[in-house]
Amino acid sequence: ALDRAMRPRSLADYIGQPIVREQMEIFIGAARARDEALDHTLIFGPPGLGKTTLAHILAHEMGVNLRQTSGPVLEKPGDLAALLTNLDAGDLLFVDEIHRLSPVVEEVLYPAMEDFQLDIMIGDGPAARSIKLDLPAFTLVGATTRAGLLTSPLRDRFGIVQRLEYYSAADLALILRRSAGILAVDSDAEGLREIARRSRGTPRIANRLLRRVRDYTQMKADGRINRVVADQALGMLQVDQQGFDHMDRRLLSAVIEKFAGGPVGVESLAAAIGEERGTIEDVLEPFLIQQGYLMRTPKGRVATLAAYRHFGLPESVSTGVSA
Ligand code: ADE
Repeated sequence: ALDRAMRPRSLADYIGQPIVREQMEIFIGAARARDEALDHTLIFGPPGLGKTTLAHILAHEMGVNLRQTSGPVLEKPGDLAALLTNLDAGDLLFVDEIHRLSPVVEEVLYPAMEDFQLDIMIGDGPAARSIKLDLPAFTLVGATTRAGLLTSPLRDRFGIVQRLEYYSAADLALILRRSAGILAVDSDAEGLREIARRSRGTPRIANRLLRRVRDYTQMKADGRINRVVADQALGMLQVDQQGFDHMDRRLLSAVIEKFAGGPVGVESLAAAIGEERGTIEDVLEPFLIQQGYLMRTPKGRVATLAAYRHFGLPESVSTGVSA
């Protein structure tokens, strides 16, 4: 319940992502003035940056209902048809993990998105019939970790495409100040700033660390989060000075120590650290690459000098890649 309370409900309360905010304000304002549904919108970016939050805000700003589902839940064309035929004019259908739609369900989506037409087969064998239904004008909002995971016919049907970026520490500190207010956590600016700095640019992580630092502070200090106690708590949580957690360090140190700094293919890396390829690609790598600790090259992943320095290791001369 508090998680929901912590989510902003309007674009004005949405911190960071200035480009997304500016564009969506214009597209929403224009669609509302024409009394039309917002155009179909694809939101992509790493987990925890607020794709679901943004979808809820779009529905709220448009003054419409939000219906929520996800790619893997829509097993059959009928599952999608049931949702589409229950929409009111202008409603927003949010499909999380839209890259995981089955091909047969995706086929139903194309005419629905393009012409607000539902075109499905019912029954099978000699009794099978094709039915066509008009749908109300609606907005499909799809979310995915990487736009490249979508088939191009699906991607091409979104009139608006928004990419969410990692947040700056300053923006995360603002988000934490808001969360601390909602949770009634006693804290000072430097304490929140320390948590923000070590949250991998990700609001979901920042809010989670805030709760854990609060626990620590309650048990080990006077209940008020300041920089010193935040640092102690984050140390206990094994979140290091760069905000890397256990898995980030495991990945980086595997590239350095097991593969001589790389290049190493993602499958070999997955096997070496016992993590799924998808998790490496969607969750771990994007931040390490953005921060300049890892590179993706045609031959595989390569640790940068910053990665060697992070572990206090002498810089490799044998990576075969000049940094
Ligand atoms: N909580 C999660 N993401 C947020 C954002 N972008 N702005 C404000 N609060 C948030």
